[in-house]
Amino acid sequence: MWEELLAKTDDLYPEMVAWRRHMHQNPELSYQEKETSSFIVRQLESMGIHAQTGVGGYGVTATIASGRPGPTVALRADMDALPIQDGKAVDYASRVPGVMHACGHDGHTAGLLGAAKLLNGMRSELNGNVKLIFQPAEEVAPGGASAMIRDGALDGVDAIYGVHLWTPLAAGTVATRAGAMMASVDDFDIEIRGKGGHGGMPHETVDTLLVGAHLAVNLQTVVSRSLNPVKPGVVTVAALQSGNSYNVIPDTALLKGTVRTFDPDSRALARRRIEDILSHTCAMFGAEYRLTYKVGYPPVVNHPAETERVVQAARLMLGAEAVKEAEPTMPAEDFSYYLEKVPGCFLFVGAGGAGAEYPHHHPLFDIREEAIGQAMLVLCAAAIGRLNGFPD
Ligand code: NI
Repeated sequence: MWEELLAKTDDLYPEMVAWRRHMHQNPELSYQEKETSSFIVRQLESMGIHAQTGVGGYGVTATIASGRPGPTVALRADMDALPIQDGKAVDYASRVPGVMHACGHDGHTAGLLGAAKLLNGMRSELNGNVKLIFQPAEEVAPGGASAMIRDGALDGVDAIYGVHLWTPLAAGTVATRAGAMMASVDDFDIEIRGKGGHGGMPHETVDTLLVGAHLAVNLQTVVSRSLNPVKPGVVTVAALQSGNSYNVIPDTALLKGTVRTFDPDSRALARRRIEDILSHTCAMFGAEYRLTYKVGYPPVVNHPAETERVVQAARLMLGAEAVKEAEPTMPAEDFSYYLEKVPGCFLFVGAGGAGAEYPHHHPLFDIREEAIGQAMLVLCAAAIGRLNGFPD
């Protein structure tokens, strides 16, 4: 069974690359994945797998049932692209102006389609079922995961696994960790209102640019003076917009930023401190404010027993030396919502190397395509290991 997996992945590889390149040429933004969703359904149907559509928007689910008793394992891939102009000079570059698969989600979907074909072919040997979850809208909160869960995507599911192709890691290696692996993300908009006036007569104004500048500095103390130093956190003020002339004191300032943490206490504390600092800084200058705090994805927290299984699967398929312990990382992922409901594990599959040197969300981003096969192998092996057990 396990040797068969490696051989069949090689057979499926050209098809997975063709699927990935088709999606790469035809990317769709979050919440608009209509054609991608139809493409997935067509491929599943050509394999003889019946798909449920319209799950949490353009989400697609399908169950590979063995007909034998056992647990149900879910495998998840996301499918959305980003508002980035593709800058690559390759024949599979995006054909859609301003839209690009710059995070590798096309590879995730191609890999899960490969897994579908492979597992469907060996379904009579499985002790239980595999549920495929093709998720839209990972990149933009509230995200497709929570919508799919609301529509029942996890009903009857006992464990879930998912991957992210990852160019900071070399192709051929994978990384995961038990516990917190990716951060929570909350974003904030702050609007400060003061009293505009003549740049030469500041005493008659409430200068919102100055309030904004103080805020940008004061907010640095959330991490440096309020969060426990052994618990990681980030507060980034990423935008400060106010004024546009030499001699006019502006009456508004707008700030935008993001908050990343790994645990609920730090997350709540950061929010409370931002509110305190905002109200007191504005009071200091007599300015008014409005805060819009957008609660985003929770942290990705892997379950130890499932992580152990994924590590075992990866070692079996790619060799012990290919498996590394992941560093916790500050980007967020809505895979976290699945992990809040059922035990599971998320892992990074290395996709970096020659031709794939750029970071995620970069206009020249690309992946080493062999990583799609490696992602598929690890997902299939983890699912089979969960259903049938691993060889001794
Ligand atoms: Ni991504």
